[in-house]
Amino acid sequence: MVGIGFRKDFAEDFLSSNTLSPSFIEVAPENWMGVGGFWKKELQKALEKYPLYTHGLSLSIGSPDPIDLQFLKQVKSFLKENNAQIYSEHLSYSKCDNAHLYDLLPIPFTQEAVQHVAQRIQQVQDFLERKIAIEIVSYYTPLAPEMSELYFVNAILSEAKCDLLLDVNNIYVNSFNHQYNPYEFIDGLNLKNTAYIHMAGHRKVSDDLIIDTHGEAIIDPVYDLFAYTMKKLKKDVPVLLERDFNIPELSELQNEMNLLQKIKNEALNPVRYAFA
Ligand SMILES: [Fe+2]
Repeated sequence: MVGIGFRKDFAEDFLSSNTLSPSFIEVAPENWMGVGGFWKKELQKALEKYPLYTHGLSLSIGSPDPIDLQFLKQVKSFLKENNAQIYSEHLSYSKCDNAHLYDLLPIPFTQEAVQHVAQRIQQVQDFLERKIAIEIVSYYTPLAPEMSELYFVNAILSEAKCDLLLDVNNIYVNSFNHQYNPYEFIDGLNLKNTAYIHMAGHRKVSDDLIIDTHGEAIIDPVYDLFAYTMKKLKKDVPVLLERDFNIPELSELQNEMNLLQKIKNEALNPVRYAFA
């Protein structure tokens, strides 16, 4: 299964033609909760055809502030009303002292943060009465690390008993910016509870910096890392094509989705495809 992020920029085109045929759509609950009128109808039209996956933006799981339960209550209703298959969020924080920072900031890789974040993920899972999938974010400066990123992520996955949203492009971007081997990172990551995969494009802005833009096509080294990841996973995990900016013709997005499906099929059925 390969899905697409449902964006207002192309919603009308998407719903009025058959150019794009995803297996599911993804939205950020925050962008659609409480929305009425025309856009509510557009979302309902999409949900009549496609199952819903969700990717939250403002839970701020790493924040020192208490979880906003009023907000979470709205998320819970939205997930239930629209039969969301997955609720995922970022392993980051975007709020501090009750102020929205409008960015996904990295959490320090410390033992204290592991306990803090794992406890908060459990609190969210208990409140929502479902598991959530947590995404490793792209980051540009590690904050006072006491441990490696890999150790930090694995510790949270095991303490929180949550699922993993593996954004393969984020792993590639981080490995480039922080100079490690992305294949070794995937080898060391606890993939057991991988529930969801993201794939996206990025922009290389200098010889030693990539910015995770979601505004370009996926590049070959990220497809290669995706193929490697699928072979390790050995199970059919849903994959999302993230494209938030600089939206091309829908046929181009469909070509990318077809390629993702092809790579996935070949990775999961190597013998069948070798002789096809
Ligand atoms: Fe992502």
